[in-house]
Amino acid sequence: MVCRHNDELEALVREAKKMTGRGKVADYIPALAEADENDLSVAIYYTENTCLSAGDIEKTFTLQSISKVLSLALVLMDYGKDRVFSYVGQEPTGDPFNSIIKLETVNPSKPLNPMINAGALVVTSLIKGKSAKDRLDYLLAFIRRLANNEKITYCQNVAESEYKTSMINRAMCYYMKQYEILHGDVESVMDLYTKQCAIEMNSLDLAKIGCVFALNGKHPETGEQVIPKDVARICKTFMVTCGMYNASGEFAIKIGVPAKSGVSGGIMGISPYDFGIGIFGPALDEKGNSIAGVKLLELMSETYRLSIF
Ligand code: DON
Repeated sequence: MVCRHNDELEALVREAKKMTGRGKVADYIPALAEADENDLSVAIYYTENTCLSAGDIEKTFTLQSISKVLSLALVLMDYGKDRVFSYVGQEPTGDPFNSIIKLETVNPSKPLNPMINAGALVVTSLIKGKSAKDRLDYLLAFIRRLANNEKITYCQNVAESEYKTSMINRAMCYYMKQYEILHGDVESVMDLYTKQCAIEMNSLDLAKIGCVFALNGKHPETGEQVIPKDVARICKTFMVTCGMYNASGEFAIKIGVPAKSGVSGGIMGISPYDFGIGIFGPALDEKGNSIAGVKLLELMSETYRLSIF
């Protein structure tokens, strides 16, 4: 399917792009520092399978934290919400995404929600499979079904770069293992988690996945109910309350769409029953969200009246 370039959207991208200079590309995962901080692209995928775009939507990027919504959907489908929420909570933290502090101060020491790193690590540890390869293949197959794109895979360079340097995430895994929140071998959880975060796609793929959520789990192209309605609803709710980390409250007031960001500069947004949005803009603000991506969503929300509130 061809995505049509749209002039109105291009004008919004041009305006939002002015923000890129105020942001900074993530470099705590060394391989992410190679991104071009001036990039900004957007795709809008409509429920009737049409698509509009602006910027270079062929560019691929890794999902990073956006993958947390997808791994959560998968484990909710396999275990049900009662079991999943016995390992991970449902409340926003107000802390940065990689903060360790509440693991110690909140009792029992389970992570407050699945969108922060600690919670996402527990979710990843629950992904089913007999071997490491099985678990990765299972997650990839699910994500390929969501994007209806068999070619989707992970970027080995980014995965290795994070695996080698991700000591705070390791520390959180060990902490949670001590309290029997996380089970199994920490290195295998880290291996799967870093590959999950390194799953790579372009903004059109991401917009299409957003569209699946906009349709409450039904795929716009295949018609398949890829995610049960109730699971899609839970994921969207987390996107509103925790999707933009400790900027989620302000984002909900200013923009008002369920959204999830990643430190690669990706943002997946959802306009319920209407379309999914895929944005890529690697320059980040101080909270780890795409600075121009957030601006672009703000302009889109004003122009197209997107707030769900
Ligand atoms: O675990 C990490 O730190 C990264 N793989 C993902 C963090 C992330 O994307 C936070 N997003 N804004």
